[in-house]
Formats: sequence, C-alpha cells, structure tokens
Amino acid sequence: MLAKNTSSLNGQALCPGDKSISQRSVIIGSLINKEITISGFLHGDDPISTLNALNAIGANISIEDGDVKLSNREIPFKNPLAPISLDNSGTGMRLMMGLISGLGLEAELIGDNSLMKRPMKRVSIPLNEMGADIKIIDGLPPVHIIAKTLNDNFVYEMPIASAQVKSAIILAGVASNKKVSVFEPAITRDHTEIMLEYFGLNIESKEINGGKQITFIPGNSFQQKNYDVVGDFSSASFLIVAGLIAKNSTITIKNVGLNPTRCGLISILKEMGANIEVSNKIFKCGEKAGDLTVKSSQLKGINIGGDIIPNIIDEIPILSIAAACAEGITKISDAKELRVKESDRLEAIGEGLNALNVKYSLYDDGISITGGIPETDDLIEIDSFGDHRIAMSFLISSLKIGGGVCVKDCKNIYTSYPNFIQTMNDLGMEISE
Ligand code: S3P
Repeated sequence: MLAKNTSSLNGQALCPGDKSISQRSVIIGSLINKEITISGFLHGDDPISTLNALNAIGANISIEDGDVKLSNREIPFKNPLAPISLDNSGTGMRLMMGLISGLGLEAELIGDNSLMKRPMKRVSIPLNEMGADIKIIDGLPPVHIIAKTLNDNFVYEMPIASAQVKSAIILAGVASNKKVSVFEPAITRDHTEIMLEYFGLNIESKEINGGKQITFIPGNSFQQKNYDVVGDFSSASFLIVAGLIAKNSTITIKNVGLNPTRCGLISILKEMGANIEVSNKIFKCGEKAGDLTVKSSQLKGINIGGDIIPNIIDEIPILSIAAACAEGITKISDAKELRVKESDRLEAIGEGLNALNVKYSLYDDGISITGGIPETDDLIEIDSFGDHRIAMSFLISSLKIGGGVCVKDCKNIYTSYPNFIQTMNDLGMEISE
C-alpha cells in the first residue's frame, strides 16, 4: 500500500466499532440466547471470524442492514462439524476456548499463520485447572478441546495481566453456570465485566493492591434486547497521532470509546505535549464514549512503563510514530507482551524505524526512540509483517516523509479497521492500494 506525503489533515471522522467489544457482544449475546440486536458492530475480519465460529457451534447470528441479529436457539449448542478457524484473531481464539470448554463441547480451533504461532498455554492452563481438557502442542494452536464438565468455585490468580485470559475464564464460568473468580495483577480492559453486568449477570469486581478480583456468580436475570457498540479507541489512536504530527491540522473523531482501561494513550500524549480535547461525553451500554478534537502539536519524549502498559498495549505501534516525531527520547518499558501479538511488534517497530532512519534501541521488554525523522524525498519501503497495527502506524508516518512510504502486506488492516484508507483520505491523506 502506498501513502504519498501530504501536509495538513482536517475534518471529522466517525470512529469504527470497537473490535474487542464487537467480539464480546456476539459471544455473550449467544450465551444469553434471546432476540438481541447489536448496532455499531465492527464488520472487520476479526469480529466476523468470531461470529462465524459461534454459528459453527449452533448460534443463530445473522447480519441485517449492518446490524447483527441474534435469535433464540431452539436446540442447544453443538460440536462443530469441522475445525473452526479464527483467522488472525487472538481474542477470538482465546475467548472461544473459554466458551467451548464451559459449554462442554468438543472442537478444534485453528487460525492463520500468525495465530498459529501465538501462545495459548496462558488460557489452556487455567481452563484445564478448572476441569477442562484442552490439548495443545508446544503451547501453540491447533487447540483441541475435549468435552468435560467444569468445576464450581474455581479461583485463579493470573501470572500476567491479560484481558483475554481473564475473559476466557469468566466466559467458561458463565457458559457452565459455575462460580468463578479471577485475580488480575494489573488492571486490564474490563469490557467483559461491563457487558455481562449490562445484560443482567452477577459480576463483582474489587480492586486489590493495584490489581482486581472479578467474580461471576450464577443466578441471572437477563434484561436487555439491544446493544450499541462504541467506537474503538485503538482505531481512533491512528487518527489522533496523525492529527498531532501533521502540520496545521485539526481533526475531530466522533463516538470514540473512552473506557478508562483503554484510553491511557490520551494522558500519555498530553504529557508529551499533545493538544487533545474531549467533548460530548456519554455512556452507552455501560461504556464511556465521547468526541475527540486533536490539533497539530510539538511533542516531547517521556518515559513510559509499569501498570499503564496493559492499558496502551495496542497503541504502542502508533505511539512509536509519535515518539519518532517528538523532541528527545521516549522510552517504553515493561511491554514484553508486544513480542507475542499479531507480530513481534517490538521487532516490527524497530525494522520500520530503521527504514525511516530513526535512531532507536530495542530491549527485551521495550524500545527507546530518539525523536527526529530525517528529511528525504525517497520513497521508503516498510514491512508490516502482516500486522494491521504496524501497517496503519507506518502508513501514518508518510506525513513526515517527502517521498512517501510503501508498506508491504497490508491486508490485515481489514481485521480491525476496514474503512481506514477511506477515512484517512477523506481527512487529507493520499493512500492507495
Ligand atoms: C484484547 C486484549 C489485549 C489486546 C488485544 C485485545 C481483548 O490482549 O492486546 O488486542 O479483546 O481482550 P491481552 O489480553 O492478551 O493483553
């Protein structure tokens, strides 16, 4: 994909639906087994592969005029006829592991080349302790789930702060109707808890020593017939940084999800000197949302690490572009998780910065970036390693490269942000396939 150098960005954009929330809406919606309409759903490859996986086990989900409709199932969930592919989606695979184990079904889960290399023990270990029988080899997919009945009153202390692990365990409890309690060592995104509560399930959360204990207690009353997905803060982050680094720019992004466990990037960028304003704050289905107005800003480097990392984990690729445009050094630590995302994101960010001639040092758990992208009229080629967030981040870097950038292997942008090119071009960029 080619991004020509353009100067200022101006206008308004509507934030696409949240990927994490869209995936949870179909999973939790099918467990509830009522007529439910989901609006604002992200029609990206990841939520769609999760939706297809649910239909493969007997859910009754269709798409009508952009909305997702869940209908009552007359028959119970069933074993799938063939292996289920979650394509590129780690969230899809890990949450389905919890759901399928909880339902006591038998299934094999597979994915694309990237997903087949991602660690699954973090989910199979606790689920097996809970009574499931999940077999994986060397910690990687394919994931074989054997039908078992799960134990009641399972309690698990997670060794890593992961919303996917937390959600898989809670969903196993909900699907099997067993009490379950999970402790996360640092706060991670809480969409699962918020959505279960919104639909009337019993979820208790309490913060302990910087972490959180979440307990699901069976005994429910389902109350809602509609769910409205807020915009994806992670997708908005590409527009935010684009608006900050482009000259003479003002952009407004409407309907951005502002869940406090997701939007830590705003405070980080503000500390770096960013001009970002939040307006029209609302609550939708228990989730905060609002509009963001971003103006061109001179950024400065800062140190970032510790418990904020799970909050900004998906935004670190685009934060690296902001850091490359800042004055001074930005150091990001405690982010080893980036090595096991859709690509080894630390390596991928490093390779991209190298192509841009930006100085950086890579560590096992982070990166230190010295701000300053040298001017050039050459077209710069960058590999996205098939990773949607790396691809979008480096397409945005073209705002600072006279000769523009050509990013390889961008198809996975469709996993999280199908309208990315159109939206950026409407704001003033020139991206073409
Ligand atoms: C997600 C949680 C995060 C995030 C991923 C989506 C989710 O992963 O990086 O893109 O939907 O729960 P971890 O929970 O593995 O940190």
